[in-house]
Amino acid sequence: MNTPIADFVKKYAESDCLRFHMPGHKGKGALGIESLDITEISGADSLFEANGIIAESEKNAGALFGANSFYSTEGSSLSIRAALYLFMLHAAKIGKKPLVLAGRNAHKVFISASVLIDFEFEWLAPSKNSYLSCDISESELSEKLALYSDRCVAVYVTSPDYLGRIADIKRISSICKTHNAVLIVDNAHGAYLKFLSESRHPIDLGADISLDSAHKTLPVLTGGAYLHISKNTPDIFAENAKLALSLFGSTSPSYLILQSLDIANRYISNGFKERLNEFCNAVDNLKHELISKGFSLFGDEPLKITLDAKKYGYYGQELADLIAEKGVVCEFADKDAVVFMLTPENGLGSLERLKDSLFSLPKKAEITDSAPEYKQAKRALTPKYAMLCESETVDTENSEGRILCEFNVACPPAVPIAVCGEIIDRNTIERFEYYGIKKCRVVKNKPL
Ligand SMILES: Cc1ncc(COP(=O)(O)O)c(C=O)c1O
Repeated sequence: MNTPIADFVKKYAESDCLRFHMPGHKGKGALGIESLDITEISGADSLFEANGIIAESEKNAGALFGANSFYSTEGSSLSIRAALYLFMLHAAKIGKKPLVLAGRNAHKVFISASVLIDFEFEWLAPSKNSYLSCDISESELSEKLALYSDRCVAVYVTSPDYLGRIADIKRISSICKTHNAVLIVDNAHGAYLKFLSESRHPIDLGADISLDSAHKTLPVLTGGAYLHISKNTPDIFAENAKLALSLFGSTSPSYLILQSLDIANRYISNGFKERLNEFCNAVDNLKHELISKGFSLFGDEPLKITLDAKKYGYYGQELADLIAEKGVVCEFADKDAVVFMLTPENGLGSLERLKDSLFSLPKKAEITDSAPEYKQAKRALTPKYAMLCESETVDTENSEGRILCEFNVACPPAVPIAVCGEIIDRNTIERFEYYGIKKCRVVKNKPL
């Protein structure tokens, strides 16, 4: 597969052109990559009005993913905002009031998108065990879709989630189709799912839109992501994708990231599927070995290993710190879980080292305290309204009855423990305490 963006930039970097254009480093600098960091000079195309090398490269990505695929150099965060804006355009076109039914484990960008785009949303209940997961209940989804049959509804699902649980997108999509709802999947953690021996990518399972962070699971620089739109989705989505991305994106997209996305196409088309599946088999074997040693795991995502640390006798963060001393660094740990994100780039040898570091920890008596069960707090204000209020910071223990106006109460994994605009109740405070959150910002005076 060709790499038109990378080829163009390489040729330019090797030429002796005088750079009387941005960026200010003029192709030289301490990082050593400056010569490849260009801007929209003649021939380089323009991300949001692409009709040259960027359009060609995006077509390559689309051929690999079997979708209308568009690049983001600002992560899935940008793709999420664009997707929700496209849904709003679609609702306006069909003349129905929009509503988004979203899994409660949505990334915080979903909330900020509601502030920017002003869409109405309602939560689908999260899993009882962790606010980071959401086992979408088919009956709850069907009931809500029937209830809102006069509205234009989008169902917004995060899958895989941070703990490595994958939702049944095929089933959810068939329910959405029965009710004419648009299915948007935050697949930030699952770009690679397309290349499993049998694809588990949301677009192949019936999603209308999938947002994939290429940088999370493919060898792409941080920030590289896709907005994939199914070929079966009404034309208004793909036709307005560039407009949607440009509304929220920087006017200076990174050409380093664009080259990285471009080169990933060649990487994927050159035997990636085989390498990925061989590596997934090795990860699966490691998971079995860990289980036989007494570890318990969450989730079934092929490229994640998520330990239920307390079952092995450790708090997640404690376990993560112990193996960090041996040079093994995880993606995320909280009280309950330790998450390892793996890709074939780790190499098969790294699995032995991960295993050795974990096997060196003796199993202890299970820790039995657990996160308070999630109860949906009452919403007093929309997130947008709450964010426009004058605020003050209070101790969380004294915050009962106040309206939260803090946008992000936990990062990573950036799934809000409580959502801006909600009235803080006892259950919220218990969850704050469990996750070690001592202060929060609350509404002082409501705006007029
Ligand atoms: C589930 C989920 N969605 C969206 C995002 C945002 O992705 P990005 O960092 O590519 O903007 C993240 C980031 O961690 C995430 O975990």
